[in-house]
Formats: sequence, structure tokens, C-alpha cells
Amino acid sequence: MAFNSHYYYAIFFFSVLFYVFSIASSQLSSDFYGTSCPKALSTIKSAVASAVAKEHRMGASLLRLHFHDCFVNGCDASVLLDDTSSFTGEKSAGANVNSLRGFDVIDDIKTQLETACPGTVSCADILAVAARDSVVALGGPAWTVGLGRRDSITASKDAATKDIPSPLMDLSGLISAFSNKGFTTQEMVVLSGAHTTGQAKCQFFRDRIYNESSINSDFATSVKSNCPSTDGDSNLSPLDVTTNVLFDNAYFKNLVNKKGLLHSDQQLFSGGSTDSQVTTYSTSSSTFYADFASAMVKMGNLSPLTGNSGQIRTNCHKFSVFVPFLIGLALVDDGIANDIDDQHGEESVTKIEALQHKRDRLVRKNTERKEKIKRLTTELEGLRSNGAEMRKKIDVLRREVAQLHEATKVMKVIASQAMDLEAEVARLQHDTLMKMSAIYQVRYLKGR
Ligand code: HEM
Repeated sequence: MAFNSHYYYAIFFFSVLFYVFSIASSQLSSDFYGTSCPKALSTIKSAVASAVAKEHRMGASLLRLHFHDCFVNGCDASVLLDDTSSFTGEKSAGANVNSLRGFDVIDDIKTQLETACPGTVSCADILAVAARDSVVALGGPAWTVGLGRRDSITASKDAATKDIPSPLMDLSGLISAFSNKGFTTQEMVVLSGAHTTGQAKCQFFRDRIYNESSINSDFATSVKSNCPSTDGDSNLSPLDVTTNVLFDNAYFKNLVNKKGLLHSDQQLFSGGSTDSQVTTYSTSSSTFYADFASAMVKMGNLSPLTGNSGQIRTNCHKFSVFVPFLIGLALVDDGIANDIDDQHGEESVTKIEALQHKRDRLVRKNTERKEKIKRLTTELEGLRSNGAEMRKKIDVLRREVAQLHEATKVMKVIASQAMDLEAEVARLQHDTLMKMSAIYQVRYLKGR
């Protein structure tokens, strides 16, 4: 199939069109699948319940999948996309590689839902509901999950590397990692309570158990037994040393007793601003549950794709050929869409990616331009108001100049009148002198 520039323009145009259209996206709603897939929620719930019954840790893994999805460009199932020869997803990012689990459970749910209601329930919604059902299956709180997310057609390893917090972070790093996503420090603390369940690898807490002082020594000794100082990177320890298979407030009790497994965990109770909140949760599981549920709702609302954005993947591991791409092709040349075959699949994917990058660049440029226009408009308004002020000043000056002109004219008249008067005075003086000299002459003649 030969692509020429017209096809690219058409594809590009329709991609942008869809993108722009999708900006006016709808909100999530809890009954989104009420008519389109009424069994969606019960299917997810029972699949999660049986997966957690089989292996408790699966509840933790599914909860973490949703977190790692939402923190990287929003809850759009980007975390589920596999790498291909021409596409790098998020699975290979440091925080995810050999660490994220639960993909099989998501696949199982997706297969069931594709049979029940094909092309309807997004992978991103499955992740959000599975996270909630996991917490419930482990004895934790429930919350209402807003639905209607769609799946991304992109992923970003860079964003995954940058946006997912590291277990080596200090309190200030954790606070800013969450505030970058719009969360308060309090929400960061309560969400960290997810570490009341699940496991972590030795490589993530070795430094803490061997080198840190703010750690309970019995706890450190017991964890060391399965995490040697130089080996066993992948050996697991429970994040909550007391009741790891329960979603309870024991995590916070552990922190108060200096039994946090990760450096980042113990940072929440280390003499800093979050100590008091940790103490509150350690004594009130109901406060922890209520706050955790609200923070999870907020997390699930992170930049979802809705309306016409993204797509509903049929297989959560890969995105389907971009819909606007096909429409673009169809409108340019009805016959071309039929030409897409397996042989060109790979090539098309590369081209789609290039177009998506181009689209992203364009949208970025557009945003930059909008900002520039805004800046210039503000400057212009500033100049206009300065101009108005200047005009007022000029008017005042003009009036002053006019008054000066008037004054000058009056001065000229007065000066000429003065000159006339001076001439008159001179004439009078002359006349007076003449008269006096005539008088003197008469007196002289008389005297002789
Ligand atoms: C506060 C910053 C956080 C850091 C630094 C962090 C870091 C980690 C690390 C290093 C692990 C162990 C991974 C492994 O060994 O393979 C882990 C596990 C886990 N994290 Fe976090 N995490 C954070 C916040 C969260 C949040 C907000 C949630 C969910 C709301 C969460 C849920 C979990 C769960 C459930 C596990 C256990 C997963 C399993 O056993 O498969 N974490 N986290």
C-alpha cells in the first residue's frame, strides 16, 4: 500500500479533529454500563474475589496496578500495553519491571466481558473496579467507582519513570511527587496506607534494614533473615509485618513502632509534619477507611479519557488500529482501508505513532501559541491603558500650551501698549521741555 502525503494529512486532520472533539469530554458516572453491560460490575467483583481467595497478594497487586496506571498520564490503562518492536510501553520502567503483577486477572476479566458485551468495557475501568474490589476482598472499605474511562493508544515509559514515587524518597520528595498529581500531603499519607497489604522485594528495603537507625531492631533482624546484605534482591517481605493479608490500619501502627519496611514508609513517621496523621490512623481504622476511600476516588479521576478520546481495547495488552486513522483513510479513498493487511500492520503502527507524536507536538504548539496570544493581549491592554493615560497627559499639555499662547498674545498687546505709552510719555516730556524753554526765554527777555 502506497501512502502519499494526502493520506497523512487526512489521517492527521482526523486525529486532531477527534482529539479536539474529545476535549469536551463527559464525566465519569457510576452507572455508565447500566444498560450497555449490566453484568460488568458483578463479573469483575467475582473474578477479583476468586483471584484473591486463591492468592491474597493478588488483591495488593491489583490495587497497585491501578495506582501505577493513574499516576502516569491518568487512568487510561496505559500500564497494560506491551512493548513491541516499534512501541515502548510502561512495563519496562524501573518501578514496574519485574514488579507489577495481576495482568492475568485483568485478561481473564476482559475475556469474560468481551464475550458478554463486546467492545464495551474499557481496560481502564476494569483496573479501577478491580482495585476497589480487591480492597473490599481484603476486608477494607468500599467506594463508588465512577465509570466511562476509555483506553489510551499511547504509553510513556519516561513519565512512568518520572511520576511514580521511589521507595528511597524522603518526606519532601513524597509530598511533591503527590502534589505534582494534585494530591495533598494528607492524601499522600492515607494512600500510602495501601502498604497495609502486599509484598516488597529485598532490593527496595535493603539499605533501610542494614543502614538506618530509625528502625525497630528486632524487626530489622527478622527481615534481614530473608534479605541478605549482598544477595537475594528478589526475596519478598510483607509490607505490613503484622496483618499482611488484611486491609486494616496496622500499617500505621507499624510506623509508630518504627516497623515501616520501606524508607519511604517510615518517612511518614519520622518526626516530621505527618507524624500526627499517622498517629490518628494508627488509633482509628474508621478514619483511615473513610479518608482512603475518598482519596482513591480522587485517584481514579486522574485525567481519564472519556467521550471520543482513546478507544475501548479488545485486548488490554495492545491498542487497536486508531479509529480516526481508519476514518481518515476511508474518506480519502474508500478502497485504501481495505488494503491494510497483516503485512502492513507493523508499518501502520509505526506511522500511527509518528502521527500521534505529530499530533501531540501540534497540540503542544497550539497551547504555546494560545499562551503567547494571551500574553500579547495582556501587553496590548497594558499599552492601551498606558496610551489612554498618555493621551490624557497630552491633552493637559495641549491646554497648557494653548493657555501659554493666549498669554503670549496678551503680553504682546500689553508690550505694544507699553511702547505706545512710552512714546506718548516721551512726546509729553518733549512738549513740556519746549514749553519750559519758551517760558524761560520770555522771562529772560522781560528781565532785560
Ligand atoms: C507513597 C509512595 C509509594 C512508594 C514509594 C511505593 C513503593 C512501593 C514499592 C517499592 C513496592 C514494592 C514493589 C516490589 O517489591 O516489587 C510497593 C508495593 C506496593 N504498593 Fe506502593 N508505593 C507508594 C504508594 C502506593 C500507593 C499510593 C498505593 C496504592 C494506592 C500503593 C500500593 C502498593 C501495593 C498494594 C503494593 C504491594 C504490591 C504487591 O504485593 O504486588 N503504593 N510500593
